[in-house]
Amino acid sequence: MKIGIDKIAFYAPSYYISLEDLANARGIDPNKYLIGLGQRNTAIIESNQDVVTLAANAAIQIIAEEDLQKIDLVLFASESSIDESKAAGLYLKPILKLKSQCRIVELKQACYSSAIALQFALNHVQMYRESKVLILASDIAKYGTQTAGEPTQGAGAVAMLISQDPKIMEIHQNASYISEDVNDFFRPTNHAVPIVDGKLSTETYLRFFQTVYNEYTEKTKMEYDAICFHMPFAKLGYKALTSATQDENLLNRYSISKYYNQDIGNIYTGSLFLSLISLLENDLTLKSNDTIGFFAYGSGATGEFFSGRLQENYQQYLNKENHEKIVQTRHQLTISQYESLYNQQQQFQNVHQNVFVLENIENGIRTYKKV
Ligand code: HMG
Repeated sequence: MKIGIDKIAFYAPSYYISLEDLANARGIDPNKYLIGLGQRNTAIIESNQDVVTLAANAAIQIIAEEDLQKIDLVLFASESSIDESKAAGLYLKPILKLKSQCRIVELKQACYSSAIALQFALNHVQMYRESKVLILASDIAKYGTQTAGEPTQGAGAVAMLISQDPKIMEIHQNASYISEDVNDFFRPTNHAVPIVDGKLSTETYLRFFQTVYNEYTEKTKMEYDAICFHMPFAKLGYKALTSATQDENLLNRYSISKYYNQDIGNIYTGSLFLSLISLLENDLTLKSNDTIGFFAYGSGATGEFFSGRLQENYQQYLNKENHEKIVQTRHQLTISQYESLYNQQQQFQNVHQNVFVLENIENGIRTYKKV
């Protein structure tokens, strides 16, 4: 039985800043961000959005009435938790009109938790063949203004529906993985921003990639038509890829797989799958049965390599029009507007149409509405 990604979509905030503007404001050569990190713009989260609305706005693009009857497991992957106890996905029960006979949990291991969500979903569908699993990977990456991490911020969510006979991609049920106790990036409870050892984080990312890529490729003898990466910034995935291969096709396809990531920034748990969406929606040469490799990484740290196979006519089931509209209708903020939004001196409301937004927080209870 084939199990994998039946539908996939992303959502990103309606504001962004240009990294060239940011570099100029910080007195840094813009090429450090544009070439050194490989990023162009970064998404800025509105005052009335949180990880729930980001996830809801991704999910509404893919969930149809017939799916609602079959979704009996929702896995919400996030490291931007809004509650120490209640899973953020429970707020989505009324928003998405999910049925009550449904398990809803939140998963955490930095950016990696969306990859384990996928593995859990595969096992679930293996066991309950008619069921569908909704995976939501939703995050807000903040490092603080005037920090080294500032150009690698971002926000956004990816929603994926996992089922048997998937329309987009079968995911192979094997993987290679590694975990070690590494203090490269972590956010202790009550810290608004993470504590980051940038150099250690990039070294660990590259070391884990080489370990799991080599082990997986040796074990499966798999040949890849493209490889997607967790992409905190576009240059890092490129460095990982070129440490393993100089294959021209793989390098060209890497350039395509950073299409949305370069303009939205690091969306943590959703980043790897945002790069998959970028690749599938913008590469005109991939075809059914092509094999895609995936490198997932979460600081702290866990790395995993796995793969999937594209399905017949997968192109018909993508959401390119929606996604381009989301990115193209964003408003650009000046650096001083971004700073006053960041420091909560000024409010900016979501300017996209037909989206869910945060209405209120009272006694810790969040309410949402569609605008
Ligand atoms: P930095 O120290 O400011 O930058 O921080 P740098 O000095 O390392 O320079 C960056 C690159 O720009 C270098 O390229 C420079 O040479 C180049 P490299 O040598 O590495 O190839 N450069 C220039 N290029 C062209 N023209 C110029 C120029 N000047 C310099 N004029 C860092 C960079 C990424 C560390 C920082 O932004 C940071 O700490 N970010 C947050 C942490 C991060 O993103 N780590 C990535 C791996 S960890 C991960 O992926 C997990 C994560 O997603 C979290 C999770 O799992 O939950 C973050």
